[in-house]
Amino acid sequence: MFVSSRRIKKWQFVQIVATCFILSLMCFWIPSDNHIVSHMKSYSYRYLINSYDFVSNTLSINRSLEDIPSFRYLINHKEKCQAQDVLLLLFVKTAPENYERRSMIRKTWGNEEYVSSQLNANIKTLFALGTSSNPLKREELQRKLVWENEMYSDIIQKDFTDSFYNLTLKLLLQFSWANAFCPHARFFMTADDDIFIHMPNLVEYLKSLERIGVQDFWIGYVHRGAPPIRDRRNKYYVPYEMYPWPAYPDYTAGAAYLISSDVAAKVYEASQTLNTSLYIDDVFMGLCASKMGIVPQYHVFFSGEGKTPYHPCIYDKMITSHGHVQDLQSLWEDATDPEVKRISKGFLGQLYCRLMKIALLCRLKMNTYPCRAAFI
Ligand SMILES: *[C@@H]1O[C@H](CO)[C@@H](O)[C@H](O)[C@H]1NC(C)=O
Ligand SMILES: *[C@@H]1O[C@H](CO)[C@@H](O)[C@H](O)[C@H]1NC(C)=O
Ligand SMILES: *[C@@H]1O[C@H](CO)[C@@H](O)[C@H](O)[C@H]1NC(C)=O
Repeated sequence: MFVSSRRIKKWQFVQIVATCFILSLMCFWIPSDNHIVSHMKSYSYRYLINSYDFVSNTLSINRSLEDIPSFRYLINHKEKCQAQDVLLLLFVKTAPENYERRSMIRKTWGNEEYVSSQLNANIKTLFALGTSSNPLKREELQRKLVWENEMYSDIIQKDFTDSFYNLTLKLLLQFSWANAFCPHARFFMTADDDIFIHMPNLVEYLKSLERIGVQDFWIGYVHRGAPPIRDRRNKYYVPYEMYPWPAYPDYTAGAAYLISSDVAAKVYEASQTLNTSLYIDDVFMGLCASKMGIVPQYHVFFSGEGKTPYHPCIYDKMITSHGHVQDLQSLWEDATDPEVKRISKGFLGQLYCRLMKIALLCRLKMNTYPCRAAFI
């Protein structure tokens, strides 16, 4: 049909120009060191990557059982999860030398006794790790770890080198352990050892999810249409041979995410069929989930890389925040103080907190919860 050029309205013109611009980005080679451009480029492939099976098909491998990288347990607690009503299995990704961090976590958000006595829920906290990557310190650190485990009985360790490029092995350790020894836990969560988790808020949230009876549930800070990094100097560099596509399937930041137990089982199943050489563990988890047709949801109070602003109005709703080591104890005390809930009570309290949250979150260049978290 003939369309008179005069009838093309101004906004249509803008749409056409924008579409051509995006298409030209997709079609022509553009130096990929420009972050924004590479992100726009990858974002435009996002629907393809998320909607079709070709990604997981090319990364699938036919392997016999012997080929699956399996390492033996050096420290294990098969009985840890025997209780029937486990609400949450919480894995903390740690490294042998991070004793201080584990110690703080045991006293704060990872404390099972606190959760059962104060929050009336049954959680299991376990630390997942490999062996020290420093050969000179390996034996000494291992001795300390064995001692630490005798004290606390909460360490799960396998015989692989604990290094950045082995993070996917650590992921497999968690999912295979959950599958073998704790398949009945309602929820599964994995977190870094420099994260803060607001346990009272999380447990309340989990109980509400349990009442609804969620399935295929996966939530966290979602990376949408993220491009693989092709710059060799970058820590997250991924060569084309390892991952040829311009975008990853949507995935949640590995700092902390939450899944229901059916998803844990499906991801474990998929992990047995995919090439595990991709060492970015949260991306690998995304590939497994994508293969099983599971899509992540965004929770505005799960942080990615970002740190929460310190304010009672934020503590009222927060679930996780990243990058807390020195301040973990003080943040725990402040954020779980019952006074916090009182501040946002009543009409004036609500108004005050709404305005505070807008002031704290709705600024440009803030690496924390998104602005819309202020309106929830
Ligand atoms: C993998 O196995 C399937 C069936 O078991 C077969 O159809 C396929 O060709 C095999 N792929 C490779 C790469 O060997
Ligand atoms: C991963 O762990 C294995 C087993 O310990 C080790 O052989 C390998 O060198 C490690 N890879 C890296 C990149 O550290
Ligand atoms: C897994 O991918 C790597 C490239 O990243 C490749 O070298 C390796 O052969 C693949 N493994 C299998 C079993 O296909």
